[in-house]
Amino acid sequence: MSDAPRPVSRRQFLITGSSAAAGAALVRPAALLADTPRRVQDKMRVAIVGTGIRGITMWGREVAEEYADVVDIVGLCDINEGRLAFGKSYIGVECPTFSDFDAMVAQTQPDTIIVTTNDNTHDTFIVRGMELGCDIVTEKPMTTDERKCQAILDTQAATGKHVTVTFNYRYSPHRQKMKELLMEGRIGKLTSVDFHWYLDVYHGADYFRRWHGKRASSGTLFVHKSSHHFDLLNWWIDSEPEEVFGYGALEYYGTNNSFRHTNCRGCPHQANCKHYWDITENEFLTNLYVNNEQYDGYLRDGCVWDEAIDVYDKMAAQIKYANGVQVSYSCTTYSPYEGYRIAFNGTQGRIEAWVKERQPWDAPPYDEIRVTDNFGQTELIQIPQSAGHGGGDTRLRDKIFRDPSAADPYEQFAGVRDGAMAVLVGIAARTSVDTGAPVQVARLTTLNPQPVRPKEG
Ligand SMILES: NC(=O)c1ccc[n+]([C@@H]2O[C@H](COP(=O)([O-])OP(=O)(O)OC[C@H]3O[C@@H](n4cnc5c(N)ncnc54)[C@H](O)[C@@H]3O)[C@@H](O)[C@H]2O)c1
Repeated sequence: MSDAPRPVSRRQFLITGSSAAAGAALVRPAALLADTPRRVQDKMRVAIVGTGIRGITMWGREVAEEYADVVDIVGLCDINEGRLAFGKSYIGVECPTFSDFDAMVAQTQPDTIIVTTNDNTHDTFIVRGMELGCDIVTEKPMTTDERKCQAILDTQAATGKHVTVTFNYRYSPHRQKMKELLMEGRIGKLTSVDFHWYLDVYHGADYFRRWHGKRASSGTLFVHKSSHHFDLLNWWIDSEPEEVFGYGALEYYGTNNSFRHTNCRGCPHQANCKHYWDITENEFLTNLYVNNEQYDGYLRDGCVWDEAIDVYDKMAAQIKYANGVQVSYSCTTYSPYEGYRIAFNGTQGRIEAWVKERQPWDAPPYDEIRVTDNFGQTELIQIPQSAGHGGGDTRLRDKIFRDPSAADPYEQFAGVRDGAMAVLVGIAARTSVDTGAPVQVARLTTLNPQPVRPKEG
């Protein structure tokens, strides 16, 4: 790493500079203060590793457009030089680009690294980024196995750097309302949860076209996808998972078909395959992936019948929490509609919902939550549907970039411990499928599951 002095970070400026600035204001004329141009150092210096679709949209262009007053994107890194160049132009920044992560950090001196690479590589950049003095904002899943998880926990403890895990699912108004009802004890003591997630034959199938269908890259969908759901459970239940028993199988995608090809373009079975998809009809995806295959051979429209697919396409888990709550969870990846069913069972009633995110029939533009009191009445609560997770994406980014000290009444902001607990449920479930035995979460890392989830916000 370079010996060049690091610019004062916006975070340091907010914490250490505010009292000094207050003192200075006493002696500096107001007119002089007003004329002082906003210093570049006042902005958070952010570097992004992984210029795929997530990196250049949610954390790239949208941040460059909506947070330019508080964020400078100072560097971009990816191993695919074509995607890197396209990403830079798509985001619309003038920063340098790198294939070498250490070189990027040394040259651009970021305060914060945003990690949006393939799941199995997150740990490399989280650990190294903290060692080089940066805070981390990482996409879920934080990592894909318990050894990598422990390395992240150890490095975070040793460096004291901050790790944010961007669990945007917590921010949807519908899920937030269920959290609110649980926080206010609406159904008495929560005792069990039924949670079943359905990915449809379009979105679900898309996981099997990409690197997500390979266990070595995604840690299986128990980690890549279900860790979103496990995080919701940890957050709603407000406790930590203690024991997990899992089942999983691959019965639809992969080898479960009589024909296959490498990918959809040029496939001789196009006319017979219900999953045929022409990526070239989408200009953005063509620019991002198809035009850059020459650099790494990655096929974004890979065959869903690929024999190398080795993740489960149906998964189930029983989870026992440290506060005694029991969960029955499942995820199906080839459903006719997309959404989930959930029910919270308490000593005084039940909260339940059937959320449809896409379905081949007309549905009203709101989600419902039914709350039924034991021996009492039932109430239907309607939550209007809206884009961008109902403003949740903006609230998440505001908290990261604009005001890290903003109030967090529903405890939606997640750190390294929440990030670990979410993946540990998936890792435990996957291990349980492999071994046929229940897995104690406490055996996976040094984290000891607590009856009440420790708050990190
Ligand atoms: N929270 C959400 O709802 C949500 C949605 C989409 C994606 N994600 C997460 O975002 C991450 C990225 O997903 P994506 O859909 O953008 O994938 P993607 O395949 O489009 O992008 C991944 C990028 O990482 C690059 N990369 C891989 N290994 C690298 C390395 N060692 N060094 C540098 N670059 C490397 C690839 O070349 C690619 O450009 C994943 O972890 C995924 O789980 C989260």
